[in-house]
Order: sequence, then structure tokens, then C-alpha cells
Amino acid sequence: MKIAERYDIAAPIYDRTAWVLSLGGIDKLHPALVAGLDLSGKTVADLGCGTGLAFPALIDAVGPAGRVIGLDNNASILAKAEKRVVANGWGNVELVVDDIATTPLLGDVDVVFSCIAMSCVPDPSQKLAELLANLKPGTSVRIIDALPRTSGFGYPAINGYNFLKSFIVGSHYKKLEPFERVFREQLSDVVVDSVHGGMYTRLTGVKGE
Ligand SMILES: C[S@@+](CC[C@H](N)C(=O)[O-])C[C@H]1O[C@@H](n2cnc3c(N)ncnc32)[C@H](O)[C@@H]1O
Repeated sequence: MKIAERYDIAAPIYDRTAWVLSLGGIDKLHPALVAGLDLSGKTVADLGCGTGLAFPALIDAVGPAGRVIGLDNNASILAKAEKRVVANGWGNVELVVDDIATTPLLGDVDVVFSCIAMSCVPDPSQKLAELLANLKPGTSVRIIDALPRTSGFGYPAINGYNFLKSFIVGSHYKKLEPFERVFREQLSDVVVDSVHGGMYTRLTGVKGE
């Protein structure tokens, strides 16, 4: 089954399913997306935004002068995000149906976020390299995803769980190393750390001048 078909089916139950499959980690991922970044007044893109679970954290961080662009290639999922936006009266959120791998939007944003979505794209580290190459200097990038680790407490068990989960969610369970290499080749101030006891990896960097 193609990934878009999976998310068509998952749209009505995504929020609860994400909580269960992440073993409660989804609640920690969105605060971890914005933690330590000064986002006030910035325009941020959330690539593969899904139903907009990250929006509360993003909107709070950018403040009234900032803007959030939620991008997803699945119209059913994005319809759920739209309901969330309308219900909360968020006037500074724009939703875009587009593909992470080919969107021309990113040249105009200050910060690029992607939370557990990059691994849904085929050949994700290559696509990430292309995406980073097109960012304007000074753009901050932060990605959180389930990527196999080679160290840390209980990492074989965590890798095993994430590997099995990738069949359910239809993601491409690729190694951390190529993602980290792309970050280090194209960005400065790169930090790689983990979230939710090592179940997720967070990569942060800034596009140089
Ligand atoms: C696991 S969900 C993550 C949703 C959200 N970021 C969150 O933290 O809850 C992955 C999302 O990526 C979207 N997605 C997958 N491949 C995509 C692509 N090539 N372009 C844009 N969105 C994509 C899916 O439709 C889905 O909404």
C-alpha cells in the first residue's frame, strides 16, 4: 500500500494512533521541535505537518507576528489540520498541499521543521540534501525522526521496535549516518541529540552564508 493511501485511512485516527505507536513520545516531539530556538516573529515551515499536532508549539513560539506554513501531500490529513486551525482561530497558519521533496516554498522561510515525516519520503537523505541546498542563508533546520542508532541505553531494542513500526506506518527506516552527513556537509552549528529516551533523533543546524 502506498504511503498516501495509508494516511488516507489513518487521517480520522491519526492523533490517537501516533500517541500509541510512539509510546507516548508524540507529546514530547513537538515541544522538542521548538526548544531552545528563538522563533519570535519568524516564518516557519512544518514539512509533513499531518493533522497539525505541532501547531500549538509552533504558534506559541512564533507569536502573533510570526507565521506557520503547514505542508503535507495528503489532502485528507490536511483537512484535519484545517479543522484544528479553524477551531482554534489561528490566523497566522497557512496550509499547503505539496510534496516535501519538490516544494519550491522553502526559499522564503526562516525555519524548516519536519517531525517524523522525512522518513516517509523515498530516498530521504538524498531528498534532504536537495532540500537543504535550496535554502536561503541563515535558515534554521530541525528534523526529528525515528532513525536507527548505534549507541545509547537499550538501543538494540529501540531500533527493533522502530523497525517493526516502520512497516505499519510505511516509513523508510534508514540509518542516521547519511542524515547526519548531509547536515554536516550543508549546515553549520549542527547538533544531533535524542528525544523520548533515544526513540527519536533530533538534528539541528543552520544554513551558512
Ligand atoms: C507520521 S506523520 C507526521 C505528522 C506530523 N508531523 C506529526 O508530528 O504528527 C507523516 C506525515 O508526512 C506526510 N508525508 C509523507 N510523505 C510526504 C511527502 N512526500 N510530502 C509531504 N508530506 C508527506 C504524511 O501525509 C503524514 O501526514
